[in-house]
Amino acid sequence: MYVLVEKNMVLRAFSVAWLSICLTFVFVAGVNAADRPFGLGSLATTEQVSGWDIDVRPDGKGAPIGSGNAIEGEEIYAERCAACHGDFGEGIDRWPILAGGLGSLTSEDPVKTVGSYWPYASTAYDYIYRAMPFGEAQSLTHNETYQVVAYILNMSDIIDEEFILSNETIGKVKMPNQKGFMMPDPRPDGQPKGNPCMSNCSVPTKVIGRARSIDVTPDKE
Ligand code: HEC
Repeated sequence: MYVLVEKNMVLRAFSVAWLSICLTFVFVAGVNAADRPFGLGSLATTEQVSGWDIDVRPDGKGAPIGSGNAIEGEEIYAERCAACHGDFGEGIDRWPILAGGLGSLTSEDPVKTVGSYWPYASTAYDYIYRAMPFGEAQSLTHNETYQVVAYILNMSDIIDEEFILSNETIGKVKMPNQKGFMMPDPRPDGQPKGNPCMSNCSVPTKVIGRARSIDVTPDKE
């Protein structure tokens, strides 16, 4: 008997849910999205969503299927990146340096590069696929991105030139500065919901250097 009541309740819950799904469809179908300005109200297709859903997380989640190593990456890097970032990631003029600087972070003159500073290989994949080459963002294929990331990591001796960087291995690469970030995020706007710290926040800070001493401020003309 008890079981029967339970079953009925489950059935009823199902039919309520089903009814609301049907009603939603009636509503959506009733208003023709295409007739509205900007097509507002239409559902994004899986293809449209996948165009936006490109983030790759530290453990490799979200990494698109593909692979490449530094040997393959060298050519693409030379063609598409070296003009700004230099053949060896040294950075031409004021374009960002991409390699080296390992062990410099605690020095007077820290050199922050993908190799010395970035916490995860996925950060490099995500950023490069999303934003580089500068001015031609998202023109690299997935394989080209793996290749070029492998090349950049190899320039900082993080992986060897034959290491196959792929959707399966990218989450396993150990970056030198992986532990150099504070978790949880201590910044005021990163505080848990409901209790954001807006003034006199007790975030432990220690000044370890001054911009003046590393001479990054241009002299007056
Ligand atoms: C036309 C010059 C140019 C080209 C070509 C170019 N980049 Fe960049 N790159 C930039 C600029 C400018 C930035 C800084 C962008 C910013 O901070 O918003 C940057 C930033 C980066 C960064 C982040 C550096 C850091 O530490 O913040 C990486 C990684 C990178 N580029 C990789 C690449 C790769 C890989 C390619 C080739 C596929 C490439 N770039 C091609 C100009 C270029």
